[in-house]
Amino acid sequence: MAKLCRPWLSASACLVLVTACQLAASDALPEVKPEARIAILRAEIARHDALYFRQAAPEISDSEYDRLKEELAALERAHPELAMVPPASPGFDDRSGRFPTARHSEPMLSLEKVYDEDALRSFYARVSREIDRDGITFIVEPKIDGIAISVTYERGRLVRAVTRGDGNEGDNITENVLTIEGLPRELAARGGGDAPELIEIRGEVYLTFDAFARINREREAAGEPPFANPRNAAAGTARLDDPDAVAGRGLQIAFYGLGACEPASARPASQQATLARIAAWGLPVVDRAVVVCDAEVLWQTVCALGEERAGLAYPTDGVVVKLDDIAWRAKCGDSPQGPRWAVAYKYAPRRAATRVRAITIQVGRTGVLTPVAEFDPVDLAGSTVARASLHNRDALARLDVRVGDAVFVEKAGEIIPEIVAVDRGRRSPESAAFVFPETCPACATAVVSGEGGALVRCPSEACPAQVRRRLEHFASMAAVNIAGLGPATIGALVERGWVDDPADFYRLERAQVLGLGADVVVSSDALLSAIERSKSAELWRVIHGLGIPRVGETTARDLATVYPDLAAFGDLSAADFDAAGRAAVLDLGRATEQALLFWFAEARHRALVRDLAGQGVGANATYRAQASSSALAGKVVVLTGRLEHLERDEAINRIRAAGGRVVASVSRRTDYVVAGENPGEKLARARELGVPVIEEAAFLRLLEETP
Ligand code: IVH
Repeated sequence: MAKLCRPWLSASACLVLVTACQLAASDALPEVKPEARIAILRAEIARHDALYFRQAAPEISDSEYDRLKEELAALERAHPELAMVPPASPGFDDRSGRFPTARHSEPMLSLEKVYDEDALRSFYARVSREIDRDGITFIVEPKIDGIAISVTYERGRLVRAVTRGDGNEGDNITENVLTIEGLPRELAARGGGDAPELIEIRGEVYLTFDAFARINREREAAGEPPFANPRNAAAGTARLDDPDAVAGRGLQIAFYGLGACEPASARPASQQATLARIAAWGLPVVDRAVVVCDAEVLWQTVCALGEERAGLAYPTDGVVVKLDDIAWRAKCGDSPQGPRWAVAYKYAPRRAATRVRAITIQVGRTGVLTPVAEFDPVDLAGSTVARASLHNRDALARLDVRVGDAVFVEKAGEIIPEIVAVDRGRRSPESAAFVFPETCPACATAVVSGEGGALVRCPSEACPAQVRRRLEHFASMAAVNIAGLGPATIGALVERGWVDDPADFYRLERAQVLGLGADVVVSSDALLSAIERSKSAELWRVIHGLGIPRVGETTARDLATVYPDLAAFGDLSAADFDAAGRAAVLDLGRATEQALLFWFAEARHRALVRDLAGQGVGANATYRAQASSSALAGKVVVLTGRLEHLERDEAINRIRAAGGRVVASVSRRTDYVVAGENPGEKLARARELGVPVIEEAAFLRLLEETP
C-alpha cells in the first residue's frame, strides 16, 4: 500500500449530483406534508427492495434508489418525531426466501453515504475532531459494486457464506460461494500464528465487465432477457439454485474487513493490518487501497480513483473511507446509518437530459419484441448515445415514457445507456401512453406473451426480421465469422430473395454478389472468399451459429467435443440422444436437452443442418481430431484448488482443446479431479466416490500428450 503521490485533479472532475428523482418528486408533489412524504418514501423503498431482491427485476437505477433513501433519511433527521412513528423506515433486506438463513455473529452494518466534496470534508473534520490527536490516518478503498458477503472460517476452515440480509440474518449461499475461483476452503498458515477459533471475513461478490458481457451474450442466445448491469447479474447469479450454473458464470470475490473474531486478541489493530492479514491467509482483498493523512489528499485520492474507475475490469460505484486505527474507531460510535468511523462516497452517475423522439420496436433473432427509445443524441461518459432499450412491455409501461417526453439518461453499470426518469412536469398535455403493438411490426403476425407477460414474441419463424437477425448471428464474429456480411449486405440479399437461411450463403454466385453494388459490398472477391473460408470454421462455431435456443457458446463447445462433424450432429434425434448417452456425458441439464430435442423435432431445422453439412460446412474436425487422439478426449474433469502453472481459464481452455469437458462438481461421471493448492470439498467428494484424483504435475503431463 503506497502513500498517495498523484497529480492534483480539479474538483470539477467530480460532478455534483442533480437528480431527476428530486425534480420529479417536487414537481409531482409540491406541497406534500413531511409525514405523508415519509410514508410514501417508506412504501416505495419497501416496494423497490422486494422488486430487487425477491423478484430480481429492479425498476429504478441504483442511484435513483439511493436518492429515495437519502431523501427519507434527510426528512427523518429534520423531523426526528416522525422517524419514530411506526412502521419504522424499511431496513435493507436482501433475503430472497429461497435459501436457508443464517445469523451473523456480529451484525453487518451499512454505511452513511455522501455525494459531494463538502460532505466528505465534513466527515473528515468530524472524525479528526472526535479523535483529537496527531497522525490520524484513513484508508480509501474502491467501493466494489456487487453484493455484500460474510464468509465464516472456524479453526481455519470455511464453514459458511452468508449475504447481508437485514444485517442480522442473511441467505446462506455457501454452496454457490464455494464455486468462486481463488476462494480457499482453508486459511493459509502464512497468515501467522494459529487460525482464529472463529472469524467472519467481510467482502463483496461481484462480476467483471467481461463476465457480465459474456453472460448477457449467452442469455440473448438463449432467448432470455439480459441483466441490466453487473451488480444485478452478480446478485442473480449468487442466488441461482444450481451451483454448477453459478460456477459457469465466473463470480469473483474481494474482502475488505472483519466481523466477529474469536479470540478478540487475534484481531489486527488497523485496517492496513487487516487487509495484509486477509491477504496472508490467501484470500483476495480489495486492491488500490490508499493511505491518506490529510483532507486535501483525501479529496485528490477520491477524484483520482474516480478517473481511474472507468478503466477498471470490475464495477465500482464509489469509494469507502475508513479510519485506519481500530482502537480509535470505538470513539466515533455508530449511527442508524452505520458506523461513524467510515463513510461511502458515491460518484455521480453519468447522467444527461434529452428528449424522446420515437419509440420503436425491435424484433430479435428469437422473435422477442424489444421497445427502444430513440432520443436526441447526448454525450454520456465519453460517448454519444441516441437510443436506449426499454427492455420489455412491462418495464416500458412502468416507466410510462412517451414520445416527446423530457427524460434523464444514465449509463447503467457505466456501460449501457438507460432512461432512469421521466420529467413529468415538462410533459405535454397532448402526450399519450405508448400502445404496445399486438402484431409483429415486421410481419404482422399476432404476438404471444411468455414469462409472466413481460416478454412479447412474434411466433413466426418466417418473420423477415427474425430471418435477418438469424443470418446476422450465423455470420457474426461469435459464430462462423464471415467478414463483410453485416446487416446491410444481409438485408440486400434477403430483399432480393437470394438468401433465406445460412446454407444459401454458400450458393451465392459471383454475378449475384457483384450485382449488389459497391455501396453494399466493397469487394466481391473478399466476400466470396470469406464465405468459402467460413466452411472450415470450427464445429462449435457452426453449432453456435444455428441459434438454437439455450445453446450458447459454452454448450456449443461442449457439443462439438462429442460429434465428429456437422453431419453427425445433424443426425441427432431423440432416440440417438438417449441411446448414445450423450446427454449424460455432456451434463447439459434438462432444459437445454429439451430445447435441443425440440429444435431438432422440426423437419426444416434438420434439413438446414444437412444442407449446411452437404455444402462442406462444419466438416473441419480440428477440434475433434485433436481431441480423439488426446488422453483427455471425452473425459469429464473437475478442477479444484489453485494451480501453480496455469490460470484457471487457461486450464479450462486446454482441457476443452484436448476434447475434455470441465464441470463444476464431482459426480460418478467425473473421470478426473485435478487437485491444486487448497483443494477443499471436491477432493473429499472424489475420494468418497472413488474418482481418480491427479495433481498438477500429472495433469500437465496429460495435457502435453495432446498433439
Ligand atoms: S466497508 C460497516 N469497504 O458497500 C460497513 N464496503 O455499506 C463496512 N462495499 O454493501 C463496509 N466495497 O458490501 C466496505 N471496500 C469496501 C467496500 C464495501 C464495497 C459495499 C459493502 C456494502 C456497502 C457499504
